[in-house]
Amino acid sequence: MGIKKIDKTPARLDFLQSFTGLVLAIFIMGHILFEASILISNEMMYRVTIMFEGYYFFGETYPGIISFLASAIFIIFILHAGLALRKFPASYKQYKTIKEHTKRMKHEDSSLWMIQVITGFIMFFIGSVHLYIMIAQPSNIGPFASSSRVVDELMGPLYFLLLLSVISHAFIGLYRLALKWGFMEGENTEISRKRFKALMKLMIAAYIIIGLASLAKYTYIGLTHDFSDGVKYKSETINVGEDK
Ligand code: HEM
Repeated sequence: MGIKKIDKTPARLDFLQSFTGLVLAIFIMGHILFEASILISNEMMYRVTIMFEGYYFFGETYPGIISFLASAIFIIFILHAGLALRKFPASYKQYKTIKEHTKRMKHEDSSLWMIQVITGFIMFFIGSVHLYIMIAQPSNIGPFASSSRVVDELMGPLYFLLLLSVISHAFIGLYRLALKWGFMEGENTEISRKRFKALMKLMIAAYIIIGLASLAKYTYIGLTHDFSDGVKYKSETINVGEDK
């Protein structure tokens, strides 16, 4: 008489989904801030770009590092999305049941889950477009090259949608992780839940404001800069052979 073995696969997959989500959330928190360097100055954004290209380490820029990094993020992104597919409502009927439940119970955590499904679905498509461009054209990043992409290559509307989706998704995800991993089991669960939720909303608002401000600045540069000399930025202080 053998003891029935418990199948640990669902738990492992759940953990992997949480873990990849955590990595992506940390990544995007850094991403939006680095890319907001444009709000300080063109020169600052240029320096951040060449930092990621290894300039301060090798004394030269290697855009291939960006392709490598973006490919790694893409793999984690695909893994995370693939694991999330398990939790999507499988049919319209299931979807209706969840929706009814959410409405009737006024259950905010179910509404949060619905937002995760919708924003996640949007990112399947536009997140992939952005990542693919970063892998394929890593040397086309910089204050002018990025602004030209936002305006002339019409990435602006796509970034707007992506920003709203990814920021909501990341912080709702972190809130749900904190809930799952027992961070809200203090003396008063109700109060600690409320505090975490307020923090989540604050972070969403702050990051969306920073992201929108950067997007506005890239758009402004894209509209006003004279691109007749190309999209490369010429730094006054740093000369790395191939300027952006
Ligand atoms: C290593 C991978 C990535 C790199 C190198 C990268 C790089 C960049 C750069 C340079 C910009 C400025 C605009 C441009 O040059 O086109 C940008 C904008 C943006 N990226 Fe990424 N990105 C990466 C991954 C992601 C991912 C995974 C997401 C979300 C799913 C994302 C979301 C965004 C958003 C929303 C904007 C617009 C930001 C704003 O509105 O201020 N990026 N990215």
